[in-house]
Amino acid sequence: MEGGSMLGSPPRLKLSDLELIKIVGKGAFGSVGVVKVKKGSPKHPWNISGAQMAIKIFRKDNLRERAPNVTRAKADAVREFLPNRERRNLSMLEWHPFIAGMYACLQDSKNLYLLTELGHLGSLKELIRDRGPLPTSVCRFYFANLVLALEFLHGNKLIHCDLKPENIVIGADGYLMICDLGISGFRDEKRNWNLVGTTEYTSPEALKGQVQEEIVESVDWWALACILYEMATAKLVFWNLEGELYGEVAQKQNMDLVRRIIACEWSWPTNMEIDPVLKNIVERMLHPDFEKRIGCIVPMLEQDEGPLKNEEIRAHRFVRKFPWKKMGRTGLVAPFAPTHVPDASEEEWHTHPLPQQKDVPGLVVVEPSHQIRTYKRERKKKIQGRQEYEE
Ligand SMILES: Nc1ncnc2c1ncn2[C@@H]1O[C@H](COP(=O)(O)OP(=O)(O)OP(=O)(O)O)[C@@H](O)[C@H]1O
Ligand SMILES: [Mg+2]
Repeated sequence: MEGGSMLGSPPRLKLSDLELIKIVGKGAFGSVGVVKVKKGSPKHPWNISGAQMAIKIFRKDNLRERAPNVTRAKADAVREFLPNRERRNLSMLEWHPFIAGMYACLQDSKNLYLLTELGHLGSLKELIRDRGPLPTSVCRFYFANLVLALEFLHGNKLIHCDLKPENIVIGADGYLMICDLGISGFRDEKRNWNLVGTTEYTSPEALKGQVQEEIVESVDWWALACILYEMATAKLVFWNLEGELYGEVAQKQNMDLVRRIIACEWSWPTNMEIDPVLKNIVERMLHPDFEKRIGCIVPMLEQDEGPLKNEEIRAHRFVRKFPWKKMGRTGLVAPFAPTHVPDASEEEWHTHPLPQQKDVPGLVVVEPSHQIRTYKRERKKKIQGRQEYEE
């Protein structure tokens, strides 16, 4: 039985069923694209003709040696064979609305491919860049969305370790989904918890090499507070100029960034009016004194005690009255929720060129039939949904 099992499960998706129509992101180890199921492909629950998915492409030769621009933490991740780790992590999780779940893992002679749920509306980073500071009600919605996502991951003993707006995508329903579980790890595995993904979102303890095994979840809650600050201000709480500088100056800047995080030296922009309750929760989650910081220690529950909840954060005035249950069922209308599922093959704005066919031999690369505008930073606002979000 080709592709199917004796028990009559549907035939598996094959690379040859997919068309690569767009590249949406470049990471340290490869690129992320959008694929569309070819017309006339075999029947399959996910294989609805025209369905779109994200595909993370890992070049096999890239994985064999350390790329020059890869940081030490990332290089260690490669040694542990990063795509395998991401596949393992995703395959241990049940399907959840706030995690970009995995459909399949495929390969050809040049690449490994991880096929996941697509964030049709792009990343949270792009949203903040396009729209600037988000209204308090939107910040609250996304914050609560991410609290539930983290509670789910931590309830499964998985620590994300690289939570940041680039690693959060927005689904067609307007809800956020966490992606990039490449360096995530299970709390009981032997590893160095101080090596997390991105300095700007790293907690002081991790930078000091002092994350204790009992409280590894705290690295994700710290990052979440940095993200809430970023949503409210469209600025990094611990800003860094490294990307724009080179050599010694960059190194100095980076050392200064590390110093500022360890000293918990940050402030609110003076030229913006920000909700005082939002400010309060960020200040309490980024408190320099670990003992006084809220939400960073969440007692693990025994099985059968129900889903893990961060009671301390849920009790804060910023979200105390939030309809958590409704959010968990995706029963709220999300901010900027579009009226229809966007079709990536119709988008005229592309941020990256498509790869050459020879570099993705197992996939069919399909150039768009319309004229595309590539590499423009000042893209048209991607999200054309409701402008105002009401609580
Ligand atoms: N499921 C998805 N839907 C839509 N866009 C996605 C999806 N997954 C990833 N992306 C986009 O591609 C970018 C890179 O993806 P990802 O973070 O998984 O790769 P990476 O190689 O681990 O990156 P890095 O090492 O830079 O964090 C993301 O920042 C996001 O913009
Ligand atoms: Mg990433």
